[in-house]
Amino acid sequence: MSTPTPPIATIASLSHHEGRTVTLRGWLYNLRASGKLLFPIFRDGTGTIQGIVPKAAVPEEVFETLKNLTLESSVIVTGKVRADSRAPSGYELDVEGVEVIQRVPDETPFPISLKEHGVDFLMEHRHLWLRTPRQSAILRVRATIMRAAAEYFDTNGFIRTDPPILTPNACEGTSELFEMDYFDDDKAYLTQSGQLYIEATALALGKVYSFGPTFRAEKSKTRRHLTEFWMIEPEVAYAGLDDIMDLAEAFITHIVTRVLEHHRADLKVIGRDITKLEAIIAPPSSLPATPIVAPLSSFTTILPSALSSFAESGAPAGDLDSPGAPRPASGTWERSATESDGGTTEPGAPSSPAHLRAKVGGTTTKSRFPRLSYDEAHAMLEKAYAEGKIENPHKYGDDFGSPDETYISSQFDLPVMVHRYPAAIKAFYMQPDPTDPSKALCVDVLAPEGYGEIIGGSQRVDSYDLLKSRIEEHNLPLAAFQWYLDLRKYGSVPHAGFGMGIERVVAWLCGLDHVRETIPFARTLNRIYP
Ligand code: 4AD
Ligand code: MG
Repeated sequence: MSTPTPPIATIASLSHHEGRTVTLRGWLYNLRASGKLLFPIFRDGTGTIQGIVPKAAVPEEVFETLKNLTLESSVIVTGKVRADSRAPSGYELDVEGVEVIQRVPDETPFPISLKEHGVDFLMEHRHLWLRTPRQSAILRVRATIMRAAAEYFDTNGFIRTDPPILTPNACEGTSELFEMDYFDDDKAYLTQSGQLYIEATALALGKVYSFGPTFRAEKSKTRRHLTEFWMIEPEVAYAGLDDIMDLAEAFITHIVTRVLEHHRADLKVIGRDITKLEAIIAPPSSLPATPIVAPLSSFTTILPSALSSFAESGAPAGDLDSPGAPRPASGTWERSATESDGGTTEPGAPSSPAHLRAKVGGTTTKSRFPRLSYDEAHAMLEKAYAEGKIENPHKYGDDFGSPDETYISSQFDLPVMVHRYPAAIKAFYMQPDPTDPSKALCVDVLAPEGYGEIIGGSQRVDSYDLLKSRIEEHNLPLAAFQWYLDLRKYGSVPHAGFGMGIERVVAWLCGLDHVRETIPFARTLNRIYP
């Protein structure tokens, strides 16, 4: 057959070609035949479209070629675009011609059919599974999440500085390092986080971020863990814990906004209930400046429904403090990114004096995401256990397990920020809370609906002596950290940052129960193929 001449189009852009004949380059996704009528479904990476092929209307050769075509054969199709309100995409294609680029042999049919396959089978055929509409939709959403994440920092004065992937030392704990030989007698490790390096670039450039693959040799088989994942990490000089909590909130809001802007159709294919996501980006103008999270005594009265009505109406619900009410004497605060404070050391007060901190985010949005301290979260779990709502008690001082995080996040419709964990269970580089040095100035952001931790961050130790003793206490090799200590020797300042795992966010926004579907080729404890 001769090369088709009509203009080349993509399925996603067919609305611009209604009534015209176009060329589509793609693959045969599915085929239904009904007597003298064929209904091939084509896909081209941008979407799928159903073709109509009446025997009487096309050359015999076209009908016969399509009738016997095997699934996933590559084809160039010409046809006229016709609007059809019943079609999922709104259009159908009256096929005129077809050129087969490669026909999948009859003896080796495409292994993935429309029937249910087990997860192991699908992961073993991941290179082909990616072609199915749902998997393609997930990857499109992932791309937008990555773009929106970088865009947020790029447009808010952050400089991207890429840290090395091969490193001489650990950042997040030595037991989770992938080790490799590095020439002669040296060892190198795959990076767990770019943090230590971007602390250096932050002290050079002010506001920086890194974005790249990170590696954890974690022996965990959970639905939230990959051994290779992508992390985006901002780091800010002259910033404290509260600043990066504000930053995290504005950042997450931006990402959710972009995903809803561009992917309603994809989210529908994936089967995501988007009303839950819409609640996250309710207009900031409708929000009061007072705390969302009241002191512990009243905070257990904040039900998810109360928070959602809060988000919708802009009016505090339930026992929430009303606008203008005095701040509680303890507990957590909401603070605007621009609000200044006197640098007090009341519990829950900002972690360093205002003049030592930068305005880090790009918005003046009032805080909305609930913030609770580790102690408050623990109390919440104790109460839940007493009421039989969770199976196991949470032991004070321990990290939160998956079921704990799920319970905490299920109490809110918005991402929740848990701050000030016991220093003993957190990384060596975290600044102690001046009001209670047994706590670290750190935060974990838990996604709603039980998706768990999506962000981990902290204010960093800025004192040379304290950092040195921390490194020693953690039995880390001092020599390897000399450069990192230098940052506290030459113009040390309060600084803070966080890391967000892209795959956890994709799982949350797409509503997936496992991170293995959030990345083209997942690397897990028991899979490194394909
Ligand atoms: O909480 P983590 O370990 O924090 C750090 O690495 C800090 N150095 C970041 C910083 O402050 N710059 O990891 C950060 C995030 C987690 O919240 C989670 O989203 C993701 O990285 N993450 C993982 N994602 C998938 N699989 C894993 N095994 C992950 N471990 C962490
Ligand atoms: Mg963490």
